[in-house]
Amino acid sequence: MSTIPSSPDTAQAQRPSPASTPLHAPAPHESGLKHTSGEALYVDDMPEPPGMLAGHLVTSPHAHARILRRDASRARALPGVHAVLFAEDVPGHNQVGPVFKDEPLFAEGEVHFHGQTVAVVLAESAALARRAAALVEVEYEPLPALLTLKEAVEAGSFLSDVHTIRRGDSEAALAAAPVRLTGECMTGAQDHFYLETQVTLAVPGEDGAVHLWCSTQHPTEVQTLVAEVLGTGRHQVVVEVPRMGGGFGGKETQAAPFACLAALGARATGRPVKVWLNRDQDMAFTGKRHPFWGRFDAGFDTEGRLLALKVALYSDGGWSTDLSRAILDRALFHLDNAYFIPALHFTGQVARTNLPSNTAFRGFGGPQGMFVMEEVLNRAAERLGLDPTVVRERNYYRDTPANVTPYGQAVEGNRLPRIHAELMSSSDYARRRAEIDAFNATSKWTKRGIGFQPVKFGISFTTSFLNQAGALVMVYTDGSVQLNHGGTEMGQGLHTKMRAVCAHELGVPVERVRVMNTATDKVPNTSATAASSGSDLNGMAVKQACEVIRDRLRPVAARLLQLERGGEADSLVFTGGRVFLPARAERSVSFAEVVHAAYLAQVSLSATGYYRTPDISYDRVAGRGKPFHYYAFGAAVVEVEVSGLTGEHRVRRVDILHDVGTSLVPSIDRGQVEGGFIQGVGWLTCEEVLFDAKGRLLTHSPDTYKIPAVGDAPEDFRVALLERAPQDNTIHGSKAVGEPPFMLAIGAVTALRHAVSAFGPPRTPVELASPATPEAILRAVELARAAAR
Ligand code: MTE
Ligand code: MOS
Repeated sequence: MSTIPSSPDTAQAQRPSPASTPLHAPAPHESGLKHTSGEALYVDDMPEPPGMLAGHLVTSPHAHARILRRDASRARALPGVHAVLFAEDVPGHNQVGPVFKDEPLFAEGEVHFHGQTVAVVLAESAALARRAAALVEVEYEPLPALLTLKEAVEAGSFLSDVHTIRRGDSEAALAAAPVRLTGECMTGAQDHFYLETQVTLAVPGEDGAVHLWCSTQHPTEVQTLVAEVLGTGRHQVVVEVPRMGGGFGGKETQAAPFACLAALGARATGRPVKVWLNRDQDMAFTGKRHPFWGRFDAGFDTEGRLLALKVALYSDGGWSTDLSRAILDRALFHLDNAYFIPALHFTGQVARTNLPSNTAFRGFGGPQGMFVMEEVLNRAAERLGLDPTVVRERNYYRDTPANVTPYGQAVEGNRLPRIHAELMSSSDYARRRAEIDAFNATSKWTKRGIGFQPVKFGISFTTSFLNQAGALVMVYTDGSVQLNHGGTEMGQGLHTKMRAVCAHELGVPVERVRVMNTATDKVPNTSATAASSGSDLNGMAVKQACEVIRDRLRPVAARLLQLERGGEADSLVFTGGRVFLPARAERSVSFAEVVHAAYLAQVSLSATGYYRTPDISYDRVAGRGKPFHYYAFGAAVVEVEVSGLTGEHRVRRVDILHDVGTSLVPSIDRGQVEGGFIQGVGWLTCEEVLFDAKGRLLTHSPDTYKIPAVGDAPEDFRVALLERAPQDNTIHGSKAVGEPPFMLAIGAVTALRHAVSAFGPPRTPVELASPATPEAILRAVELARAAAR
């Protein structure tokens, strides 16, 4: 990877030279060494407070049932068991629905999925709590259950109304289209498989207060729900997040119920309580990526240009609403992906099943929506006998009016044409595709395929008010700094970036800045760290807080430097731990000296920062608005080899060119691109979530659920960040990176289809299910072979 160009502001003459700032320079993850040595503290690593109890959940063994009788007397009689709590033991609201209040903390009267919490047992050890939980008697009357998305849609079981986005007369455009394609596709669920499972430690304090150490992406929501469950004010609840061992969306809302159980246990017993799920429990009790079902009707011209598209999307929300509506909205917002569709009619609705409540997962519905469009384009390419890359290029957003998305936002700063050209050339796509076709013509049992995938992803929470963040910067009199911001660290490198921003603004080495645990008593009323917007939002808030402090220090430094002329204080630079006038750099004063002098002069050395994204809004009823601050772009070329004997495949080579604006910390962004891509490949090729006929999760541990391992990484993996691409109105010209690269993995599906089609005659329509597991690929190969006979 080459050097990262300077963003607009660092390009200014009076700014420090690139070497004296940690911004835009590669750096290790701030916890990287601690992660690998085992020194990094996660919630479960914290020293156990004396008297701590373990919480164990008693859960429903039915997908849907009426509760007839409950008896905890045998469990309560066990020595060392301190309490068994049910719905009626909740002092406040027995409700943890994050947006819609349809999620009781404890089942009341009925259970709605296999694994729903009915009671919690609190005992002196985890083993004892588990033993006691088995003694809690609950009698059920099983009721009929809906266990698949299609069943739920057919039964009219929904968690939302229909969200519609439309433009032009799609019916007429479809009727007039020279090429018409109708069909459907499904995408599967995906378990988050964060390495650290759900966990909270709750410690009771004075006057009904409680302090929680929680593995959550959303400390404020945990605080809110704990306060509501306990029936107390939010000021009595502090939620602190040291770090997460991965979240991936699975701890945006779904850490809260377990945190509430821990807090409730602490309140009921007066003792510290830890609730920790083992892997099997975590996989069985928590929701996953939403499975989606898309039905489409598309019209093309004979050159593969899309004329009209109708799509009906359904998602499987599981038993409660959770974030399903916003996830469905984002799926609709990404049906277009990178392509202009003149006439369209999109609808989306969330179905309700008797399964765990599905939730946020990297991409937040975007991948599922985009998959439908890419499936349509792949089928069109197969039908028309065109290279799927050509079909994609012909449909890109272009100049106005062909730059307007289905929901009315113009695609500004479209970098895809540039990315397309650079990647086609750097990946040598055309030559390799020809070579692959030549290889396939002579290779009988293995075939290769190549796929190209462009991505356009909207950045911002689509619930516009969530786009706000805060920070609290505290400078101590020795010049060292504690940085608090509202975002949480889940491995994505947010703290590394925020520390770089803070060190840059104050002009101190990163070692002088310590990022503190995220805590609701430092920065209040935060949004989840989600929607890839963690560094965009918190970065601006950190910058603002630092600017306030820097401006307070200017007159102090000017006095120490004996600057006489007015206005000179404004020209002082803070860099490399020193403060000076660029024109007279030989006379400088250290940051620590300035800070100490400021303290003696009674100048405040701490400040809050705040940021909100300007000018975004969306009208869901009208299906129109500007939901996104900007778009992130990227593209991938994926090459695979498929065995026609086993259906197994290898990823031979991947080339990615991704747009992160001017990267805040390029090594971190590169890690996000690589990780996001591989996680996407997992979703599309090896991770398969299966339930049995009673709604029990079959794939509840790594022996039955396959995530990508090191052997599944591309044999040749070439990741580059787009150069000379600063973004306006973002933190130091950077762009969000957490989710967009996930969708680049759809290129693997296009590559697999190419390889599978080579087992049949030219223009064989490929029938490849998702995920494209070896079984699915072998079935598709058999169908292609049958077409040849
Ligand atoms: N990277 C790691 N290592 N671990 C994670 O849990 N979560 C992803 C992404 N990258 C995740 C990750 C998701 S779903 C999101 S929304 C973003 O990180 C959130 O962090 P950001 O907003 O700071 O990018
Ligand atoms: Mo990410 S799915 O927005 O937590």
